[in-house]
Amino acid sequence: MNTILETHHLVKKYGDFTAVNDVSFEIAEGEVFGLLGPNGAGKSTMIAMISGLFPPTEGEARVGGHDVVKELRKVKTLIGVVPQDLALYPTLSGYENIAFFGQLFGLRGKELRERASEVLGYVGMQERAKDPVKTYSGGMKRRINLAVGLINRPRLLFLDEPTVGVDPQSRNHIFESVERLNREQGMAILYTTHYMEEAERLCHRVGIIDRGRLIALDTPRNLVAQLGGGIIQMGVAVEDEALCAGVQALPAVSTASFVAPPSAEGVEMNGGTGASPNRALLKIEAVHGNDALLQVLHYVNEHDIDVLSLDLLEPNLETVFLHLTGKNLRD
Ligand SMILES: Nc1ncnc2c1ncn2[C@@H]1O[C@H](COP(=O)(O)OP(=O)(O)OP(=O)(O)O)[C@@H](O)[C@H]1O
Ligand SMILES: [Mg+2]
Repeated sequence: MNTILETHHLVKKYGDFTAVNDVSFEIAEGEVFGLLGPNGAGKSTMIAMISGLFPPTEGEARVGGHDVVKELRKVKTLIGVVPQDLALYPTLSGYENIAFFGQLFGLRGKELRERASEVLGYVGMQERAKDPVKTYSGGMKRRINLAVGLINRPRLLFLDEPTVGVDPQSRNHIFESVERLNREQGMAILYTTHYMEEAERLCHRVGIIDRGRLIALDTPRNLVAQLGGGIIQMGVAVEDEALCAGVQALPAVSTASFVAPPSAEGVEMNGGTGASPNRALLKIEAVHGNDALLQVLHYVNEHDIDVLSLDLLEPNLETVFLHLTGKNLRD
């Protein structure tokens, strides 16, 4: 399998602050690769370096074998960039925006018109193409932004959080465009998100990034498999070390430790269990989920412990992230 993108020990520093810290990975031709990480993880900084917006502080990146700093002109013919922030002219129509960026790639006349209509088709925006961008919904603007990124028929497309603040219909259009571009053109895609459902649905492999570091990289299935027997979270009133030791000693439990309780906003991902910010949360890694749950219940009953909440966490990428970092993807 051919490699379309390789990064070697990429680092980006802003003064003393390291936004991207020693990141190395590869994307194969035709692969949809997800970068999953919370706000501020370094996803956009990664894309900016790989697409030649600014050079890495250390390390290097290659697209199709070409160095993104030394051979940027060549690299630009191979990549399409759909930035997190919209880059469109509001008074121009969707079509005119696309045509403008097409001209920057040297497209003219019939070829430009054909390409523009091709990319409008991919994002399902033909009908509104002649209206000014300022009359579009947020989701429609995003779709035009995506169309702009496709105008040079890239081999590798960077999509930076394309669904944030987007209505469900446009979101679906974006998903379907990604799937079609990958299936029909074999386009490789680097897709950043902090929504694990998107990474699970779209991506062949997922890199999990936190505080600038790539902390895991595998297929969604393998990442989830590392959770083993599952994770149980139990909310109690105080951090009781005897409880922690007692639970850890149960046969179906591999480890138990107190973790930072979720913030008020984090309640949503815990299935709305009513987590309050002022309590202790015991994270229990199970050898076998159901057995561990029964044993834990038995233990708290025997020891008269007041349980405030009890969750057997769904084995998904969100739980993988929690497992690796002790915190939620969205906070
Ligand atoms: N120009 C800058 N100067 C200083 N710090 C910066 C600059 N740009 C980004 N950062 C910091 O670098 C870190 C990574 O930012 P980045 O935008 O890459 O994160 P992200 O993963 O894209 O987050 P989000 O999901 O919010 O888009 C953040 O802590 C951010 O505050
Ligand atoms: Mg970003």
